[in-house]
Amino acid sequence: SLVLHVLGARPNFVKAAPVVRALAELGVRQGIVHTGQHYDKLMSDVFFADLGLPEPIANLGVGSGSHARQTAALLTGLEDVVLRENPDLVVVYGDVNSTLAAILVCAKLHVPTAHVEAGLRSFDREMPEEVNRIVTDALADLLFVTSPEALSHLGAEGIDPAKVHLVGNPMIDSLFAALPKLDPEPVRRRLGVPEKYAVATLHRPGNVDRPETARELVEAVLDVSRRIPVVVPLHPRGRDRLASLGLVTGDNLWITDPLGYLDFLSLVRGAKLVVTDSGGVQEETTMLGVPCLTVRPNTERPITVTHGTNRLVTPALLPAAAEKALADGAATPSGELPPLWDGAAGPRIARVIAAWLKGDSLSP
Ligand code: UD1
Ligand code: UDP
Repeated sequence: SLVLHVLGARPNFVKAAPVVRALAELGVRQGIVHTGQHYDKLMSDVFFADLGLPEPIANLGVGSGSHARQTAALLTGLEDVVLRENPDLVVVYGDVNSTLAAILVCAKLHVPTAHVEAGLRSFDREMPEEVNRIVTDALADLLFVTSPEALSHLGAEGIDPAKVHLVGNPMIDSLFAALPKLDPEPVRRRLGVPEKYAVATLHRPGNVDRPETARELVEAVLDVSRRIPVVVPLHPRGRDRLASLGLVTGDNLWITDPLGYLDFLSLVRGAKLVVTDSGGVQEETTMLGVPCLTVRPNTERPITVTHGTNRLVTPALLPAAAEKALADGAATPSGELPPLWDGAAGPRIARVIAAWLKGDSLSP
């Protein structure tokens, strides 16, 4: 039997690595299809190297475009690969356009699918990812859940509980595997950043695409940088707009290209504070015990607030929240980390998949 993993964007690579490794250990034949949604070296190649992912069997090179154009290119490219490879199962990850396209193609071709990171909901359909999550979960045959609240979201949407498996968080598996290699010092010195610093990442359309919000956000980050040096490894989305609004390297601000996975997490590990709108970074800071301020009106990952170091803030409240977080450090409300975020999600997922391939529906 053959399992295909469809990957396209930076967070996909991080989530897939532990699943691919665990399936390899069980001797399952598999291949990675890279859609090419992310294509810059620092958004793609560096992750394959840092995470030890095998070379893709195909790269569709779909590149960037509007939602319709990008999704259309993904659909046609993926249909060709799935027809050619004739997989027994296609595994999709997270909530990006590559995930949505793969699940649609497979549903129409009657190819079974598994969705890793099912059931997360922000309940905000203005986020393109929320639309992708709902459609993906409606069509997936196996749903792997990272966080208990996702079970009730799927139940409320009428998804058969027999298809759903709470397995923990493979993004945290990757973090566990990376931990021994995470050293902030070389990265900090290379960038010329002082010992005490904050890290910020910004790329959500709701923050960077709208000029008014982007302006407010830039002001807020500049304000934070007057209290603590801030390093911003900037995602290509919105880079030019944010720069034109004043987010440029200055006295206490370092704007860099996106960082590789190990460099980025090394920097986060040594940071006093993280400001972000990323999904994955909310989870990683929770595990690393670094205070995290998420500049968004909602999160599909509330467990990082109840069990972790995450707080939601508006741009207007960011400077005061940063001041407080720097004074308080990483207080976690429950004192407990999320259940099953233990570095063994990949093997749990692989066991369910291997059993499913044998026609069995064992629990992990
Ligand atoms: C995508 C995902 C988002 C995820 C993010 C992770 C969707 C709808 N969104 O957003 O959920 O959080 O990836 O990083 O799938 N670009 C480059 N080089 C690249 C890739 C993109 O310059 O290698 C630029 C292009 O100008 C492109 C823009 O970034 O138009 C947006 O890229 P796209 O993949 O469409 O969405 P992201 O914002 O990256
Ligand atoms: N990341 C990285 N370099 C960066 C910024 C983020 O390696 O400069 C990693 C981060 O540690 C996490 C993943 O990229 O593992 C998150 O991706 P992103 O924020 O782009 O997407 P999201 O999680 O919001 O979908």
